[in-house]
Amino acid sequence: MKLPYGPQIPAVLQMLRWITSPMSFMEACAAKYGDIFTLRLDNNSSPLIFVSNPQMLQQILTNDTKEFEAPGDTNLVFESLLGKRSVITISGAEHQRQRQLLLPPFHGERMRSYSQIISDITEKVISQYQIGQPFNIRSAAQAITLRVIMQAVFGLDEGLRAEKIQQSLGELLEKGSSVLSVAFLYFPALQRDFGPINFWGKQMRRQQNTDELLYEEIQERREKPDASRTDILSLLMAARDEAGQPMTDEELRDELMTLLLAGHETTATALAWAFYWIHKIPSVRQKLLQELDSLGDNPDPNAIFKLPYLNAVCSETLRIYPVAMLTFPRVVKTHVSLGGYELEPETGVIGSIYLTHRREDLYPEPQQFKPERFLERQFSPYEYLPFGGGARRCIGLAFAQLEMKLAIAKILTSRELELVNNDEIRPQRRGLVTGPNRPIQMVITSQRQVKSRIPQLRELQEIKTTA
Ligand code: HEM
Repeated sequence: MKLPYGPQIPAVLQMLRWITSPMSFMEACAAKYGDIFTLRLDNNSSPLIFVSNPQMLQQILTNDTKEFEAPGDTNLVFESLLGKRSVITISGAEHQRQRQLLLPPFHGERMRSYSQIISDITEKVISQYQIGQPFNIRSAAQAITLRVIMQAVFGLDEGLRAEKIQQSLGELLEKGSSVLSVAFLYFPALQRDFGPINFWGKQMRRQQNTDELLYEEIQERREKPDASRTDILSLLMAARDEAGQPMTDEELRDELMTLLLAGHETTATALAWAFYWIHKIPSVRQKLLQELDSLGDNPDPNAIFKLPYLNAVCSETLRIYPVAMLTFPRVVKTHVSLGGYELEPETGVIGSIYLTHRREDLYPEPQQFKPERFLERQFSPYEYLPFGGGARRCIGLAFAQLEMKLAIAKILTSRELELVNNDEIRPQRRGLVTGPNRPIQMVITSQRQVKSRIPQLRELQEIKTTA
């Protein structure tokens, strides 16, 4: 079998470049080898084929239960955090079943019922920042998305345990986002105690701490069942498999951890980038405000969700610096021809979301933030795929978009914000995903009124003064 070309340096050096500078490594490989290339990122030197060509991505993602598979055991890098029983780490029919269970709360009516909660939580969080006091917008966004997902998953926003879980998850993620921490995930041999350095041991204790809180919550729910609850934990606890068996505590813990982590870190980063771009480019902010103001006071969340320019801003935010650089790996099941290469069963392939979103032929001047691209043409799900596709397409796709749009609408229409300085901020690895390479500092300069109300207020004042 002849594999696509790729760097000839030893696997360990490829892995180091992948850990320290994944985006520039992928760009360098694409410049040299094109739309499909092979990297060797593990000690056994198993090849992994990176793909950024929309036709090839279509072939993979529309066939990932036929010619290809989307197995969970290739997602080992997530196992230490999410466990063996997470929707991300399980495979085949079991994976499909679990997805069917998790999808409904994140779509349609059930999802829209979170609109008010999202707006209220956004207001609560943003009102903690004073006028003139600089703050890191990613921290604010993370506080919003963590509280929102806690509400969706547990029906918990406030209370001691909710606060403890939020704090514990926040710490786990913060410490887990460094390059060092990623090295521990990719090199399982490092995952043990090393005396005084003991990074892994400390991280494991943080995880145990979070686990204890999750198990306490599960235990309490078992002791005091409440049929009226509609949160996702209640739904998972009520579910039965074909043999009539409920999920075990371990299964519940792994699924809760998955939703809590996948459900807030990614959306927080996307929101922070959106605020960066909106305030970096004055014309973007101006057009967006015009569109938002056209809805008047207390706009209907559905109307916000459908706004075309807001949608374009969110889409462009996830195009230019996609939070997830890659899809999960897929594995060849039966002999298959991909991009002119004959691949044998067991070969790993992976979609590079980052490279696909930077293609000049699809996105002229790909380094430029231009929401108009999304108004001028429609992109196929294999040309634009911030949430992946196929059998493992993101469960929270619609939920994340709703949350981004409602949080942006809430903050932008009620406050005037500015970037503290206008220097360029670039993406870098943040744990297993990406994030800004330095804090995006913003400041609230004043409160704001919806513009469409101002003429009405003036009219009222005029009536008063003439009366
Ligand atoms: C801007 C925010 C988000 C981005 C960019 C994002 C991106 C992704 C990507 C690229 C995948 C892999 C898809 C593939 O391999 O084809 C994925 C999977 C997943 N996402 Fe998201 N995601 C986001 C928000 C969320 C939210 C809010 C949830 C909450 C529930 C969530 C839950 C999941 C889960 C559970 C999976 C695994 C699905 C499976 O294995 O079947 N994500 N996401």
